[in-house]
Amino acid sequence: MKTRSFFSALIFAATASAILANDAESSDSPELKRARDTYDLHCGLCHMADGSGAGRMSPPIEGSALVAGDPAPLIDLLLHGPDAVLPKPRKKYTSVMLPYRHLTDEQLADVVTYMRTQLIDPPAGAVTPVQIAERRKK
Ligand code: HEC
Repeated sequence: MKTRSFFSALIFAATASAILANDAESSDSPELKRARDTYDLHCGLCHMADGSGAGRMSPPIEGSALVAGDPAPLIDLLLHGPDAVLPKPRKKYTSVMLPYRHLTDEQLADVVTYMRTQLIDPPAGAVTPVQIAERRKK
């Protein structure tokens, strides 16, 4: 009898943790899901979904001082392309990143926030559409 209740407790615990693990994924906020989709669509092809980059093709987001630092130069890189911001000379990659000023302030705030809060460790602060709009005027 004792053994039996031990096993049912074990099964209960295993089921509960499976349910909890499932919950962690489905509990992502709609904002986080939207930001991830925008990043995956426009940036993930070159920088990979986890931000690890693709060797000689494109640099990692993970470990980038630019992504972790003051958001202004990072926003400028998205609005005006890498040449406007990164030092010269620098490492060459086989792909070319174009400017993303055709994206909306919301979409750019989403990808910047996604990189800063999800793809680097330790995370940096979120960025708002208003901050993007301010940089556009410069
Ligand atoms: C076609 C491939 C490609 C796409 C798509 C792309 N990038 Fe890039 N990205 C690059 C390359 C290549 C560089 C390096 C550019 C250089 O040094 O001139 C780069 C550089 C960067 C850097 C600077 C990294 C560092 O610290 O040196 C960031 C941040 C970045 N990209 C973010 C993004 C975001 C956000 C998007 C989507 C909106 C995006 N990229 C889309 C290829 C790409």
